[in-house]
Amino acid sequence: MTDVAFEVAGMLARSGSPSPGPEARTLVAHVLGVEVRDLIRVEGVSAAQRDAIDELVSLRASGVPVQHLTGVAHFRYETLSVGPGVFIPRPETEVMTGWAVDALAARPVDRRRVVELCAGSGAVTAAIIHEIGGVEAHAVEVSPDALPYLERNLAGTGAAVVHADMADALRHLDGTVDLVVVNPPYIPEAHRAVLPTDVTDHDPEGALFSGPDGLDAIRVVGVVAARLLRPGGLVATEHDESHPDEVVRILRGNGFTDVATHPDLTGRPRFATGVAAAGSGRITT
Ligand SMILES: C[S@@+](CC[C@H](N)C(=O)[O-])C[C@H]1O[C@@H](n2cnc3c(N)ncnc32)[C@H](O)[C@@H]1O
Repeated sequence: MTDVAFEVAGMLARSGSPSPGPEARTLVAHVLGVEVRDLIRVEGVSAAQRDAIDELVSLRASGVPVQHLTGVAHFRYETLSVGPGVFIPRPETEVMTGWAVDALAARPVDRRRVVELCAGSGAVTAAIIHEIGGVEAHAVEVSPDALPYLERNLAGTGAAVVHADMADALRHLDGTVDLVVVNPPYIPEAHRAVLPTDVTDHDPEGALFSGPDGLDAIRVVGVVAARLLRPGGLVATEHDESHPDEVVRILRGNGFTDVATHPDLTGRPRFATGVAAAGSGRITT
């Protein structure tokens, strides 16, 4: 079996895959209906399976993400349902989620009311719920195309799924939330032309871009987080690596204290955090 996986890895490498070995094993295992670790025990593929493998390789070569071919994305300890219409969760968001998990775990169990804005697949909310106990979670998403994935991924977790624009969401929770966490759209328009086509062609437009400078959604996040959080509550928002100073200014302008930026796995500034002060909620964009 390893021969087939290696042959597929070669095909993917020649088509420009950035990660041909893992992608080949994932696609072959998906077609055969086995775990990657069990590929070594598979003794051959049928003609139909070979056709199916070749079809997936061809789609991958045309730029379709592996996660859309298998319908599955991995994020921290979660296995999530994904596909066209929903953003594929990324590794940098795993880092911000780890910050959120650690910050909440350090708080009393009666101080774990969480709102995720721009929830997409629900990856962040699912991870927080499963990694620490006692969380009351609300996941807000505006896209009707993303909603079925969000509902599927959070089914059975106890999280409330809210189909709404974050600007108006959850007003009944104003001043009572302990953590607002968000990976909003934030790519500046000027970056559109240099993004890989597997991003622009397959991630939803509304998950990527947010106004000319990319900061429109984060300006809303600053206002909404200040509205939702209780004094001492925490906000964490991912941002473009070119935006740390602007995001710090937005959070401070909305009354947050102890504002800091944090690096992703490559050391680039990719998320900002702050603490809601008593009387926060002053609206400054
Ligand atoms: C970059 S994706 C992040 C998805 C998910 N949190 C993750 O990290 O995988 C941004 C998400 O925000 C949603 N979104 C954009 N504007 C929104 C708004 N005003 N209110 C609620 N959700 C919004 C998009 O539909 C998209 O699902």
